[in-house]
Amino acid sequence: MKDRDALRLALLAWYDRQARDLAWRVGPADRRAGVRSDPYRVWLSEVMLQQTTVPHATPYFLSFTQRWPTVSDLAAVEDGDLMAAWAGLGYYARARNLLACARAVAGQHGGVFPDTEEGLRALPGVGAYTAAAVAAIAFDREANVVDGNVERVMARLFAVGVPVPDAKPKLKELAADLVTADRPGDWAQALMDLGATVCRPRSPLCDLCPISTWCEGRKTGAPETYPRKTKKADRPRRYGVAYLLKRGEEVALIRRPPKGLLGGMLGLPTSDWRGVPWSDEEAIAAAPLSAAWRDRGAIEHVFTHFSLTLRVFAADGSPGLGGDFVWTPREGLGALPSVFLKAAMAGEQLP
Ligand code: ADE
Repeated sequence: MKDRDALRLALLAWYDRQARDLAWRVGPADRRAGVRSDPYRVWLSEVMLQQTTVPHATPYFLSFTQRWPTVSDLAAVEDGDLMAAWAGLGYYARARNLLACARAVAGQHGGVFPDTEEGLRALPGVGAYTAAAVAAIAFDREANVVDGNVERVMARLFAVGVPVPDAKPKLKELAADLVTADRPGDWAQALMDLGATVCRPRSPLCDLCPISTWCEGRKTGAPETYPRKTKKADRPRRYGVAYLLKRGEEVALIRRPPKGLLGGMLGLPTSDWRGVPWSDEEAIAAAPLSAAWRDRGAIEHVFTHFSLTLRVFAADGSPGLGGDFVWTPREGLGALPSVFLKAAMAGEQLP
């Protein structure tokens, strides 16, 4: 593009002034003074941020790095402890990949992350995005780091008319043309910060944008209409029933099968999750044991690929009640995946 260098300088100067203060970030001033990012912290933050927003990820990041200050500490954790610490971040396959990657770095690389994009990409569970982000941010490699924020910035800057997802390769190419050997780590983070705080999805703050003079999307008068989107089919809905069975101050949980959604996590016992709602009779027939089940309403939960309406039934078991359950004190329920925490809270309502 014409004036590429001027555009780069304008955005980097903005980043020097406005960089967000993030728990895992070495800011531009410290970087200039020679402070290096810890690859472990960069990697951990990037995995968490693929999952959720900065405000939601930050307390998790702080508690993880306090409990496990190095990748070798993390590699030594029991699977169950990691799953419990991850609860609330969603998408548990990521937590399993996180541990597999930590163990590979600790076991096969002497606790030191590879310092190239290719080396990082070869680690278990590390995809193209994470490898590029860690290579750029931790090692200042000339890597093209493209997340949803960067795609949006490119779609607007170049007024890309092709809708996503078809436009993704083009957006990546446009982003690549702007990467140079000058401050690749700061460049990646500057683009992300711009996307998160100025070039926002719904109402971009073009008046505050350091690169608005280059922006083709702005010239169209409707920058917020980029990236163009193909109409998405609605998420399918599934229906299920969760059972809150109590024994004094304890609640019956089950360990979910290792593979699949929420694999390996503790949860409330549930029926199948299917395409049609459950009647009272069906719900009671599908219960893990017969008891005086009481209807506690329903909760809604949105997963990546479907929405779930989960009816909740509750019953009090006798103190001697056994069964194939993991009996867990009420105060331990906070570590459950959010869908079960919501269901347990609904089940606890007074009649
Ligand atoms: N979103 C994902 N990774 C990020 C980073 N390193 N800085 C800011 N926002 C981000």
